[in-house]
Amino acid sequence: MMSYYIDTLCIISLLSCHFITSSFAGPVPNVVSGSQKLIPTQVSSRDSKVSLSSTVKGLRLRPPSSYSLKLESFSTLMKSTYTERYDSRPFRVGKYNWTLVVYPKGNKNDSGTGYISLYVAIDSSTLTSPRQVVPPDLRFYVFNKKEKKYFTIQDSDVWQFTINKTMWGFPRVLPLSTFSNLKNGYLYDMDQCEFGVDITIPPIFEKSELFSVAKSFPNKRFTWFIQGFSTLPSDYLSEEFIIGGISWNLRVFRNGFGAHEGKNLSLYLNLGPQELLKTKPYDKIYARAMLRVPNQGQSNYIVERPLDNWFSPQNIGWGYADFMPLSDLRDSSTGFVRNDMLVVQVEMEAISTTKYFPS
Ligand SMILES: *[C@@H]1O[C@H](CO)[C@@H](O)[C@H](O)[C@H]1NC(C)=O
Ligand SMILES: *[C@@H]1O[C@H](CO)[C@@H](O)[C@H](O)[C@H]1NC(C)=O
Ligand SMILES: *[C@@H]1O[C@H](CO)[C@@H](O)[C@H](O)[C@H]1NC(C)=O
Ligand SMILES: *[C@@H]1O[C@H](CO)[C@@H](O)[C@H](O)[C@H]1NC(C)=O
Repeated sequence: MMSYYIDTLCIISLLSCHFITSSFAGPVPNVVSGSQKLIPTQVSSRDSKVSLSSTVKGLRLRPPSSYSLKLESFSTLMKSTYTERYDSRPFRVGKYNWTLVVYPKGNKNDSGTGYISLYVAIDSSTLTSPRQVVPPDLRFYVFNKKEKKYFTIQDSDVWQFTINKTMWGFPRVLPLSTFSNLKNGYLYDMDQCEFGVDITIPPIFEKSELFSVAKSFPNKRFTWFIQGFSTLPSDYLSEEFIIGGISWNLRVFRNGFGAHEGKNLSLYLNLGPQELLKTKPYDKIYARAMLRVPNQGQSNYIVERPLDNWFSPQNIGWGYADFMPLSDLRDSSTGFVRNDMLVVQVEMEAISTTKYFPS
């Protein structure tokens, strides 16, 4: 059956959005040697990013997940003329080796003078090919003893590590004046501090779903001519019909259902047996429809009531227990029942389908 899908809504994981934005960031040439020596020319981590990218800062209780680096003699490092940076030992995250790099006086070459600079460097020998791009999510940590929390800094963009760009991070994590002031809690117990990093290499989603709503169908109406209305079972189902690729049926309680018994005609639209056989517990189908009982008499009066509902294995049917007064049906002068026949119609206006990948 053909149908025309509009209003398509794609539900994907947020991770994929990171991957999409990351494609804006191009690599910038940069050479890092494997040794613990001074490394020339650390280019700005911000130079190749798009304007959408922004820095996100916060405070959190949870310690870093990938690596923690405690320094107990920070001021000694600060005072050392020849120490520009401290590199941690290599640690493994994913298939790669990384080091956490701290510039206690800031990375001059990345406009970090006067700030604490934090970076991670990938060991390029752990890249599997010279063309490989590694796009991790990075979050850097600085412990704040006063708050008993970690100050965190991350970028909304995803940075791409390549053979040509092996180090990424923030040249200006905290101003040295803020960091070094003992009142602020970053430097504590005389001369201690702690840095850390989360490196997460999220996989691209493998499961997804596509939700769409069709609003036009080759046959959008089903009309049910109920013969012998007065002798029907009190709970009566129509034959199954298919609209919008979904099987349905109508259910009528000719003498009313529940509290409306003896008062009102009850009328429902249900998912059909075929649909119920194949629906999974999490399936849901949105439908907008009009339920109608047309008058077969001279007047073209129609009782109609709208449906705008989600159908699921938990809610297989929706309708009205008080669709219309039974008195209107019994009164032969009204024309709703003629020759003991009641006509019931449903007109579907919108029906959703959800595709799951893999199904
Ligand atoms: C900064 O750049 C200069 C010149 O390129 C280089 O000599 C120096 O080693 C670099 N310093 C750092 C900390 O990368
Ligand atoms: C990566 O780091 C681990 C220790 O974390 C080390 O055993 C291993 O040799 C390193 N790999 C390379 C290629 O340097
Ligand atoms: C690294 O740089 C070289 C030379 O500039 C270039 O040919 C190569 O494509 C770059 N590789 C990556 C992964 O960007
Ligand atoms: C249901 O039946 C009662 C009693 O006949 C009537 O007063 C009421 O209007 C009916 N409800 C609807 C929605 O038709």
